Amino acid sequence: MRILGIETSCDETAAAIVEDGKDILAHTVASSKQLHEKTGGIIPEIAAREQVQCMIPVLEETLNQSPSFSWTSIDAIAITVGPGLIGSLLVGVETAKTIAGVLGKPLIPVNHVHAHIYAAFLHTKVSKNAFPAIALVVSGGHTELFRMEALGTLKWLGGTLDDAAGEAYDKTARMMGLGFGGGAAIAAEAAKFKAQGSKFKIKLPRPMMHKDSFDFSFSGLKTAVMREIKKLQDEKQWNEVAVQALAYEIQEAISDVLVAKTLNAAKKNKAVSIALGGGVAANARLREKLREAGGNLQLFFPDPALCTDNAVMIAAAAYYRGKNATVETIDARPALSVEAT
Ligand code: KG4
Ligand code: ZN
Repeated sequence: MRILGIETSCDETAAAIVEDGKDILAHTVASSKQLHEKTGGIIPEIAAREQVQCMIPVLEETLNQSPSFSWTSIDAIAITVGPGLIGSLLVGVETAKTIAGVLGKPLIPVNHVHAHIYAAFLHTKVSKNAFPAIALVVSGGHTELFRMEALGTLKWLGGTLDDAAGEAYDKTARMMGLGFGGGAAIAAEAAKFKAQGSKFKIKLPRPMMHKDSFDFSFSGLKTAVMREIKKLQDEKQWNEVAVQALAYEIQEAISDVLVAKTLNAAKKNKAVSIALGGGVAANARLREKLREAGGNLQLFFPDPALCTDNAVMIAAAAYYRGKNATVETIDARPALSVEAT
């Protein structure tokens, strides 16, 4: 089954053609990240305006990548309906409705957060023995744990009570003067710290790490980082090495919590595998820690390029979980719940 996926829930405009939920035939992502670097954050109106301009070129580019492409070879259109920014979602939803209407093809609504999980299952043969699995979605807006009985089923177990893991990276990166780069910028500073073997030590809390629940909380970490920066500034020690040391400890704290909670969920659910998804899943230290502590658990990690928002995951999720809908019943749903099945 060949699905054309479209994704516009945040600041990316993406399209992809995926065969049977695993083979990528074509894939394009355009981002307004550079524009938003100047403003230091996403301005919804600017993101949506960019998406209106990018949508058709992104579709054309995607279709051109697939030499044998013909509209009749597409079996369905998959579209992110939420959660996300209303203006951004509308651009994709209205485009997908138009294409599906003109071609007379089925339209499949997809939950963006659920879709992140399916980036981990591309290019691999997933046997029935890989279940039950625990899926952790860690992105800029979400930190959520799910139980999977099979590729097509998701049961929400818990999530963050305040900031998401990616949000913690983004906010602390900004406090440290690392700009809009967020997690990737912190990971780069942490790597420099490790490489130089400095003895500079900073200790941050691991919020809720030992609490026997599937909930997370990262807002306390942000406050602790703010306090640490102030202390180092007062002591005239806020320099390049201090930035690297703090970045290192932020990455350690966030990944320690994510690994501990995920392994606890795996234990409690008698899971035999773990799947990771979302922008923070690109973090090499998080993967390393899961490999070290995961024991016999099978690990499914997405290609780093498919951790952040893309349309491949939308087409893949539609293949495994898709329920056809009609053009009349599909709407942009900015507050779509992650608990929806
Ligand atoms: O999934 P995504 O593209 O957008 C949302 O749906 O939210 O994730 C973006 C998030 C940002 O918070 C960014 O800081 C984080 O992913 N991120 C990383 C890394 N690359 C991106 N976090 C940690 N380490 C990375 N290498
Ligand atoms: Zn996302």
